[in-house]
Formats: sequence, C-alpha cells, structure tokens
Amino acid sequence: MKITVIGAGNVGATAAQTIAYSELAHEVVLVDIAEGIPQGKGLDMFETMPVLGSDTRVYGTNSYEMTANSDFVIITAGLARKPGMSRDDLLAANAKIVGGCAEEAVKHSPNAFFIIVSNPLDVMTYLAFKKTGLPRHKVIGMAGVLDTARYRTFIAMELNCSVEDIQALLLGGHGDSMVPLPSYTTVAGIPLTQLLPQDRIDAIVDRAKNGGIEIVNHLKTGSAYYAPSAAAVQMVECIIKDKRRILPCAVMCDGEYGLNDVCIGVPVKLGKNGVEQVLEIKLSESEQELLVKSANDVKANMAKLAEMGF
Ligand code: LAC
Repeated sequence: MKITVIGAGNVGATAAQTIAYSELAHEVVLVDIAEGIPQGKGLDMFETMPVLGSDTRVYGTNSYEMTANSDFVIITAGLARKPGMSRDDLLAANAKIVGGCAEEAVKHSPNAFFIIVSNPLDVMTYLAFKKTGLPRHKVIGMAGVLDTARYRTFIAMELNCSVEDIQALLLGGHGDSMVPLPSYTTVAGIPLTQLLPQDRIDAIVDRAKNGGIEIVNHLKTGSAYYAPSAAAVQMVECIIKDKRRILPCAVMCDGEYGLNDVCIGVPVKLGKNGVEQVLEIKLSESEQELLVKSANDVKANMAKLAEMGF
C-alpha cells in the first residue's frame, strides 16, 4: 500500500503522520512545492518509526516521480482561510493548485483513489473528478466525516456522554449551507430528539455548521487540521480494510436526491472499490429543501470555476 499526500502543511503533514503511526501503508510520499519542507518533515516522521514500532517508510519530495503507482492520493494542497474569510474566498487560488495537483498525480498513479481535502471542498472534489477523468467511485471529498465529528463532539459535550455513542448524519456541502440531520442522530440508539429540547439541538447544529470558522478564529493564522486529517485517514482506512462503513462524503451525484452533475455530501458506503453505494435516505420536505439550497450554492461556485476557465 502506497499513499501520496499532496501538501505538506498542517493537514497534509498530520495526515501523513497518522497514516505512518498506524502503519496503514508501507510507504507514504509527502509532496509539496516548498523546497525542503516535505523532505524535512518526511524524514523526521520516518525517524519516528523506530520509536513507535511502525515499518511505514515516509519520503518527502518536490516532484511527482516518487509518487508513481500510489494506491491513494490525498490532496490537501492549497490556501487555508484566515479570520473573516469564507471557504468560497479560496476558490480561484485553490482551483489552480488543486487542478494542477490532480492532473500531475493521476499521470503517475492512474489507478489511485483520490481523497480531496482542500477547500472549497465540494467544488475542489468536482474539479479533481474532471481533471483526473476517474470514475466517481474513486474521487471522494472529505468533509462530512469532519462535520459530523464536530456535531458529535458538541452533542457529547452537552449530554456529558461518550462521543462513541453518538451516531449522526449530515448532508450537503462543506459550507454555511451544510445540512446536519437531527432526525437521523441517535445516542446509543436513542433519538437525539428524546434527549434534548429543540432549542439546544438548534444551537448544536449551528455550532457544528460554524465549526470550521470557530477554529480559524482561535488560530488566526490558518484553519483546523487535527480533525480534518483524522477524517481523511478514516476514509482511507475504510477503503483499505474494505470496512463498508457508511459515512457522509462528497461525491458526484447521479440523480440521487434529484441532484445531477454536482458534487456534494451524501451518505456513502466506503469499501475496497471506494464508493460502493450512495444511500438515498428519506428526507422531510424541509431537509430536502435545505439540501437543494446547499447544492445550488455549490453549483454557483462550479459556474464561477467555469467562468474562470477551469
Ligand atoms: C474546516 C476547514 C478545514 O472545516 O474546512 O475546518
């Protein structure tokens, strides 16, 4: 198993570290345009392996040759937002970076699964899908796992219970219009709606939706990276181990939920073929409306991409 991580910033380096520490791959290649950074971080990680007892080999490079025949390519490259910015403000700059990375990486690893982490997430996943020419089951955007992790954390904080007992689902784009679904949220099988009053649920949903900017406002110089990288690695692990977990991920929709030609977060089953299935669950009228609104927001960004010539 060989995994390439593009972008040796906080998200990429932490993802590479997590993969190496858990010996999920034989080889991890960290790629970045910044000279010395991927080499230095990669070697530092490699030198950690004797301490941790992992035989993952970690290499850093500025070119794509060493990435050849990767099983996975995780794209984290691009700018992170700063306070006052929305994810959409990154569109033009990151489209150039992500589009270029996807094109280069697929030349060397035509059979890889592509996991996209860069923002604005749904549009970048769409762009990677177009640039790689891979089928939709192999190009998967990470966001729903992160957004549900935040939502689950806030529920556990509120109920003072284990995060492990909280099962939750969330649809839509990784942006202001994401759609957490309290109707599909349970705590050890108990519907959340039986445990918390509506106003507390609303407050938690709101905090989850703004979970990204909450961290940006604390850090001031960038965005979250521990939870985003852990979420991306969980998706990779599901595919490597053919776990067939059902997780919300961004994929190209093909008529599901009445959505076409848009890449957005939906529940998918992740197994050895990547997206094994897109699950279409029953939504209330208002949930469906929120999903369509979210899809329209993503489509508006896709239209801007087209105007910019991508
Ligand atoms: C976040 C960024 C990474 O949600 O999108 O933290």
